[in-house]
Amino acid sequence: MGECDVLVTGGAGYIGSHVCKALAESGYTPITYDDLSIDNRRAVRWGPLEVGDIRDPARLNEVFLRHRPAGVLHFAALSLVGESMIDPARYWNLNLQGAQCVFDAARRHGVRGLVFSSTCAIYGIPASVPIDEDAPTNPVNPYGATKLAAERMLGDYGAAYDLPHLILRYFNAAGADPEVEIGERRDVETHLVPLAIDASLGRRGPLRVMGDDYPTPDGTAIRDYVHVADLARAHVAGLEKLFAGAASRTLNIGTGRGTSVREILDAVEAATGHEVPTVAAPRRPGDPPELVANAARARDVLGPDHLPRSDIDTIVRTALAWHRTLEDPTPPGGGPGGAEAHATRSVFSSEAAVGTSARTTSRIGKVPT
Ligand SMILES: NC(=O)c1ccc[n+]([C@@H]2O[C@H](COP(=O)([O-])OP(=O)(O)OC[C@H]3O[C@@H](n4cnc5c(N)ncnc54)[C@H](O)[C@@H]3O)[C@@H](O)[C@H]2O)c1
Repeated sequence: MGECDVLVTGGAGYIGSHVCKALAESGYTPITYDDLSIDNRRAVRWGPLEVGDIRDPARLNEVFLRHRPAGVLHFAALSLVGESMIDPARYWNLNLQGAQCVFDAARRHGVRGLVFSSTCAIYGIPASVPIDEDAPTNPVNPYGATKLAAERMLGDYGAAYDLPHLILRYFNAAGADPEVEIGERRDVETHLVPLAIDASLGRRGPLRVMGDDYPTPDGTAIRDYVHVADLARAHVAGLEKLFAGAASRTLNIGTGRGTSVREILDAVEAATGHEVPTVAAPRRPGDPPELVANAARARDVLGPDHLPRSDIDTIVRTALAWHRTLEDPTPPGGGPGGAEAHATRSVFSSEAAVGTSARTTSRIGKVPT
């Protein structure tokens, strides 16, 4: 077994690539297993790339035999809430059947630890905040439902097949690598921080703030933003706990701090020096006013040094530095790729979007985070 090799499904993606960097910094070799469906080959920089689909058991088997990884981090998934409502079959197929293929390969090859990317979307509309891991799970869209089903499958596998695992329920991942080597880059962007940065830099039209009449201090929705580099370090810490014999657990990964949409926009304006143009829009049905993690269990299990702690200014500053390295995707003033084009592209709302995007539809509704 490659004691230092760790297989990372979705390692070319936003969170996966940051985790690969953190693994390499801790002395591991990340083996990225990714179908490159988001065309991000350049983000694979800290170990070998194995191109493959997680639903291909023969290809997975070949890669496990070649690298004999000691651990598996499973990120590869679809995660657009709105899209999951329009085409749930794709989500159940990839997020559940794909997960099963990865879990089967992991148990067959006797890995010593598996970490699964879950989400606060499994809680649905929480009765109270901060949310702890024992809160009722009631996802309000197929995306969240597929993640909850995969969690349950992994729990059963862990109990029956001796597959030590951690289920990490992330809150809103944001920011970029502080050394600006990698960051968030998607064709369909739905996350608040990059959207606000682009709007502020004139790369897209005004940001729609969906709901300014919530029962929060400034009327906009509050979320728990986790710096992606902190999230990455929490994965390495969690994997090492499993390697050291820790029991399988489910952990919220958040800061325990809430930040409103308005506060994010203020931070973006301070960082760019430009106003973020906005238009007020109605609340999205099902969007709760506030989603904040109770991170006490993660603190106990991972240790206080491994909890996400970066503040919003750090998140925005690193995201902005990354965005400045990207080509201008949408010239100011519209035209091809301008505000209307963005409006068309962003009808899908990711789980991490919080009441903002250029356009949305009532079908999207019930966005949990
Ligand atoms: N971004 C967030 O705020 C957030 C919050 C909670 C949970 N999550 C979860 O974290 C994980 C990673 O999210 P992300 O934002 O980095 O997503 P991402 O879309 O940036 O990355 C996903 C990666 O998986 C790959 N992939 C997709 N389908 C594949 C397949 N069939 N076979 C192999 N590879 C495939 C893609 O090419 C991509 O590199 C997902 O499971 C997501 O549900 C993300």
